[in-house]
Amino acid sequence: MRLLVTGGLGFIGSNFIRHFLARNPAARVVNLDLRTYAGNPANLAGLAAGRRYRWVRGDIADPAAVDRAMKGADAVVHFAAETHVDRSILDASAFLRTNVVGTQVLLDAALRRRVGRFVHVGTDEVYGSVARGLSREGDVLAPNSPYAASKAAADLLVRSYTVTHGLPAVITRASNNFGPYQYPEKALPLMITNWLGGRPFPLYGDGRNVRDWLFVLDHARALELVLRKGRPGEIYNIGGTHSCDNRGLIDAVRCVMGVGPELVRRVPDRPGHDRRYALDCGKLKALGFSHAYDFKAALRLTVEWYRAHEPWWRPLKAAGGYRAYYRAQYARRLGGPRGR
Ligand code: TYD
Repeated sequence: MRLLVTGGLGFIGSNFIRHFLARNPAARVVNLDLRTYAGNPANLAGLAAGRRYRWVRGDIADPAAVDRAMKGADAVVHFAAETHVDRSILDASAFLRTNVVGTQVLLDAALRRRVGRFVHVGTDEVYGSVARGLSREGDVLAPNSPYAASKAAADLLVRSYTVTHGLPAVITRASNNFGPYQYPEKALPLMITNWLGGRPFPLYGDGRNVRDWLFVLDHARALELVLRKGRPGEIYNIGGTHSCDNRGLIDAVRCVMGVGPELVRRVPDRPGHDRRYALDCGKLKALGFSHAYDFKAALRLTVEWYRAHEPWWRPLKAAGGYRAYYRAQYARRLGGPRGR
C-alpha cells in the first residue's frame, strides 16, 4: 500500500508511521509535513529516507504541493493540524487555515487523484463537554474552543465530500493521547518535563476536568484498523483505557515519578475549559478493536521515555518560540509569566 500521511512529523503522525511501516514490510509512506513548531524531524530520526519512507516538506493548504505529494497514493491518513487549545485561544487564524482550508485542499486532491481511502484523524473535542454518559458518533457537535470548532468544521467538510462526491472517507475522533514524542506544551509531557526539571506544573482551575487517556500506540493500531476495515462515510470514536480528572492524572504521574505536592501550582482556569469528555467506542470494537496497552504500564513507559530523551525535549523548551508562547499565555491569564 502506498500511503500519503499528512503531519507525520508530529506526535501522533510519527508514532503512526513507525507503527505502520514496522507492521507492513511492503508498504510505502510519503509524509507531507510543513515542519511547523510542533513538527520535528527528530521524531522519525530512526527512519532513513529511501524507497519506503520519504518526507516532503509542504503545506497542506497549498494545492500544488498537495497534488504532487498525492500522486500514486492508494490512501491518505490526514493528521496535519494545529492542535493546542490554549494556542487557539490566543490566536485562531492558523487553526482555520490548516485545519479547515488544508483539509479542503486535501479532499479536492483526493478526489482528483481517486484515492481509495481517506482517513481524517479527528478529536473527541468536537462533541463539547458531556456532563454524563458517553458521546456517540451521531451526536450533535458542540465545540467550545476555536481548536475544536476548526476540527468540527473539518469533520463536516469530510462528510460533505463523501455525500456529495462519493469520496471514500472515514472520520475518527480520538480522546487525549499520550506517549513518546508529544510536544511538551500538552498537559502530560509538560508535567513530566517540568517535574524532571524541578519546576511546578500549572493546574488550571479546580483540576476536576475529566479526560480519557489513550496511549498513542493503541491509537495507531486503531487507525490502521479503520484504514483497512472502516466503512466509507462512517465515523469511529477511539477512546482510551483510563478516564480521570486532572488531579487524578497528577496523582498517577506523581506516583510514578516520586514527586511531592509542592510541584503543583494552581493557576486561573482556561476560558471555555471543557469539563468532561467521554466516548462510546462500540463501533470501533465491532470492527475488532481492543486495547493492547495498560494505562499504568504505558504511563511508566512514557515517563521513562522522557527521562531517557532529555536531548529531544530540552531544546524544544529552550526555543524562543516556546518561551514566547508561554509569555503570551501567562501575560494574558496571570498578568506575568509564572510557573514554567
Ligand atoms: P491538554 O493536554 O491541553 O489537552 P486538551 O485540552 O485538549 O484536553 O490538557 C489536558 C487537560 O489538562 C485539560 O483539562 C487542561 C489541563 N491543563 C492544565 O491543567 N494545565 C496545563 O498547563 C495544560 C497545558 C493543561
